[in-house]
Amino acid sequence: MTQGHSARPPRTGCGTLRAGDAGRTVRLDGWVHRRRDFGGLVFVTVRDRTGIVQVVFDPGAGELHARAGRLRPETVVEIVGEVTARTPENVNPDMPTGEIEVRAASLEVLAECDDLPLQPAGQQVPGEEQRLRWRYLDLRRERMQRNLAFRSRAVATVREVLTGLGFWDVETPILTRSTPEGARDYLVPSRVHRGAFYALPQSPQLFKQLLMVAGVERYYQIARCFRDEDLRADRQPEFTQVDLEMSFVEPDDVMDVVEQVMVALARLAGWDGVAGPFRRMSWTEAMDRYGVDRPDLRFGMEIADVTDAVRDAGFRVFDGAIAEGGVVRGFALPGGAAATRRQLDAWNARARELGAGGLLWIKRGADGPSGPPVKALGAERAAALAETLGAGEGDAALLVAGPLALARAVLGALRLEIAREQGLVDTARHEFCWITAFPLFEWDEQEGRWFACHHPFTSPEPADLDLLETDPGAVRARAYDIVLDGVEIGGGSIRIHRPDVQQRVFAALGIGPDEARARFGFLLDALRFGAPPHGGIALGLDRIVALLVGEESIRDVIAFPKTTSATCLLTDAPSPVDEAQLAELGLRLRRD
Ligand code: AMO
Repeated sequence: MTQGHSARPPRTGCGTLRAGDAGRTVRLDGWVHRRRDFGGLVFVTVRDRTGIVQVVFDPGAGELHARAGRLRPETVVEIVGEVTARTPENVNPDMPTGEIEVRAASLEVLAECDDLPLQPAGQQVPGEEQRLRWRYLDLRRERMQRNLAFRSRAVATVREVLTGLGFWDVETPILTRSTPEGARDYLVPSRVHRGAFYALPQSPQLFKQLLMVAGVERYYQIARCFRDEDLRADRQPEFTQVDLEMSFVEPDDVMDVVEQVMVALARLAGWDGVAGPFRRMSWTEAMDRYGVDRPDLRFGMEIADVTDAVRDAGFRVFDGAIAEGGVVRGFALPGGAAATRRQLDAWNARARELGAGGLLWIKRGADGPSGPPVKALGAERAAALAETLGAGEGDAALLVAGPLALARAVLGALRLEIAREQGLVDTARHEFCWITAFPLFEWDEQEGRWFACHHPFTSPEPADLDLLETDPGAVRARAYDIVLDGVEIGGGSIRIHRPDVQQRVFAALGIGPDEARARFGFLLDALRFGAPPHGGIALGLDRIVALLVGEESIRDVIAFPKTTSATCLLTDAPSPVDEAQLAELGLRLRRD
């Protein structure tokens, strides 16, 4: 033990010291943030998870001063000293502890620090690869500490709200069978049962439904999910859901619970004025007005259909699209009359990249409308058309002609990209929205078959049951997604609780009775033994936390995330295993 420890004062958080603490003797344990030698004095800022405080070493302190002068960044130190008020000219208003400093009386080095590959105290954000390789150093950065702390409080808030509403936290298996959420499975070979594999859960979907059959009635779990899919900024191969399920409920009941959770989280983030019930929109309305099923409602530029208005106008592009059964749609770009040729060319190129023939425009300048369709339409009709889309004088109308799905997708993407590029998104605002009445199935051109839009356990609207066999594309699902600022933060549905309906949905998906029994026999069995009507939802915790703290990527709110190619740069996972381990599992690698 170091001398003086018996008398050492209790530890004080570096970031907690204020003017009122002047005169106190405190003990600080933390990391050397920065060191400055100035006018004979040595200034060391010391950091722990509560924040940063300045410590001063006086030249009069002799050896103590000399040792302080040799301190390297990120050394772990213990310092005892007296809190003193700074003179007015030395107060630092940018630091919460800026009114005081600590005069060091003792210094002990608890751990040395080597040359750093990444500076936690640096002003600049290090490169992503460095950050992931040296993640524990990256996590020392103030912003990452803030993110981790917020996430922890968010999880506590979720638990508090749901526990208060009578939900039970039940854990479901990680080593399990495949659950069809549409991605590839991560497989785990069984040693005991050679040739057999567990799948890591893509979600606890089937288990939570079984828990309803088991009479749990209200279940939740902060659940880790695993999906082998293409990664993006908002997707990780393993991620966390706030997963919940309820018995004897309608969609409104599930939505109400989620709204309570989200309102509590918004409050935690200091977002003012978030209150339920959130706005609701059918899938068709979202696709028509915003071109996507996760609309960003923080700005206008709504899409509208002008097919009828341009019919028979004699403009080749419009006529061609309409003759093939397509549509003409567009949106207004505020201030778009000032768009340069280069901008218009770039948006046109982007529209082509997205699959459209191109992007048409009508500018409403002071001297009348201009743009490719104006000559054919005539100035008056062109101006009226732009007006219909909401483009007044000084604005522009941007138009796409083509098949419905393509027009929606292209305009949806351009609306968002152009609004972002032009700074038209009001980022101070936050908009929650429910999307309802999704189609139950989606036709996959390439595979030539129907797929479940959500998953195969989603209940069809009772009124549409008879269409399951005759017109699957017209069947609506009792599904709902929740969207925040253009990001899908959750999805759920009322489930099928009748075995006959489940069989019919499987059949529509091309899953015959034998395959259904082989893959989901346990579920079909459970549905025969008194399954209550039930439904639920899963919220993407990583995405929600990222939005609440204002991070672009969910990697910034996950302690140890994977790269976009699903590797862990810190541990070098995935990694090869030795032959003996493979042999034990009955596996051999193919060389081709
Ligand atoms: P779904 O597949 O829509 O539904 O997932 C629910 C929510 O989880 C988040 N999410 C992801 N977050 C990060 N990385 C990923 N790879 C990832 N994939 C999904 C999204 C999404 O909205 N079992 C159903 C839920 C239910 O029906 O109750 C399910 O998993 O925010």
